Amino acid sequence: MDKPLTATLNIEQPLDLDQYRNKGGYQGFARALDLTPEEVQQQVKEANLRGRGGAGFPTGMKWGFVPMGEDSPGRKYLVCNADEMEPGTFKDRWLMEGAPHLLVEGMMIAAYAISASVAYLFLRGEYRLCATRLEKAIREAEQAGLLGENIQGSGYSLNLHLHTSAGRYICGEETALLNALEGKRAHPRAKPPFPQVVGLFGQPTVVNNAETLCNIPGILRQGPAWYQDLGRGEDAGTKIYGISGRVKNPGLWELPMGAPAKEIFDLAGGMQHGLKLRGWLPGGASTDFLLPEHLDTPMEYDAIAEAGSRLGTGGIIALDDKHCPVGMVLNLIRFFAQESCGWCTPCRDGLPWASEILNRIESGRGSQEDLDELQRLCDFMWMGKTFCALAPGAVEPMSSAMKYFADDFQQHIDKGCCPYRH
Ligand code: NAI
Repeated sequence: MDKPLTATLNIEQPLDLDQYRNKGGYQGFARALDLTPEEVQQQVKEANLRGRGGAGFPTGMKWGFVPMGEDSPGRKYLVCNADEMEPGTFKDRWLMEGAPHLLVEGMMIAAYAISASVAYLFLRGEYRLCATRLEKAIREAEQAGLLGENIQGSGYSLNLHLHTSAGRYICGEETALLNALEGKRAHPRAKPPFPQVVGLFGQPTVVNNAETLCNIPGILRQGPAWYQDLGRGEDAGTKIYGISGRVKNPGLWELPMGAPAKEIFDLAGGMQHGLKLRGWLPGGASTDFLLPEHLDTPMEYDAIAEAGSRLGTGGIIALDDKHCPVGMVLNLIRFFAQESCGWCTPCRDGLPWASEILNRIESGRGSQEDLDELQRLCDFMWMGKTFCALAPGAVEPMSSAMKYFADDFQQHIDKGCCPYRH
């Protein structure tokens, strides 16, 4: 099976420019330069690539919203969102540490497709090894004339800058990210207008996730039909899936889109000795729990949605039968409460409140009214009531845990303690 995301990946010693080129690297970019930007967009539309940051928005369609030609003579920007901070998610880090040129090439093609002359790689600050390796790849590309003015005599010019994030979860929200890049406080902007029309410094801007961009060189080199065929079900291409929690071998694997969750658990060697799977979050912390009975579900956007959750980042978090679900949700809600930027009331006030109530329940001091209040808080923070997806995402594991593990919540109240600790 073709594994275009990891074919050139070497985590010990990533390929330098020559080694990457010897393996077909930068052929996708060369092919793009032979096409018009609109034709490159068309290739990506036909490939049916969907965004790998978590939302699954069609990439070609996103690029298509950028006003092109005489409609928009001003500067345009491409931004790579590599501010990976979703709990349970470490796929972009793997790709960037192991295949930095793949991402740089993907950014170059994407920038060309929207006629951007400046690109920013917005990287999580703690990813220091990624920064070193990406910086080296960018310098090598510059020295080889793949970046800069009039690239390869094509008339196209692109400058690519690495920017390390200031270290807050909210900086990964695309409009907060744009504010951060502008040197402002990183709070989200209202959408619409979407960044594709009014983005960085008020100019048309596309923000794509790092893994999404790593898919682009293969599409240009091998064509949309080849890319479509890589997927096993509805969605095209391959995906970096991961798993954490008390499985035997937590890790990451490149698999066809639509591989069932069971395959990922099997690759991880199953649960650790003496533990049974109780539930799992399919794609990072801001998704709904699914149950063992959902393990045959294909890990693709619509199938996971039909099962009652979201594919999100594809980074599974496993919950075992010796671990308290209330405690797990409390841990997640504490993280989200701490990371709320405070810009809108439901998130700023709702998350610390939920954290306080959960803490009471988990430590055996909760009441029946607390459970009702938690339910009310879930509705209070739902999508459409906040500026961005932080609070609605945070609510997903909490509300689904209250549905699937209702007995656990009730026992904490009835027994006045955590049943997993006593
Ligand atoms: P979203 O659905 O609002 O937008 C996704 C993308 O599609 C954005 O780039 C947006 O500009 C574009 N878009 C959506 N509707 C559009 C429209 N009508 N017209 C034009 N463009 C449109 O989702 P959002 O808030 O960007 O991302 C939420 C996701 O991020 C969650 O699903 C979550 O799983 C994931 N996430 C990932 C993290 C990570 O570290 N990778 C961290 C936190 C959340």
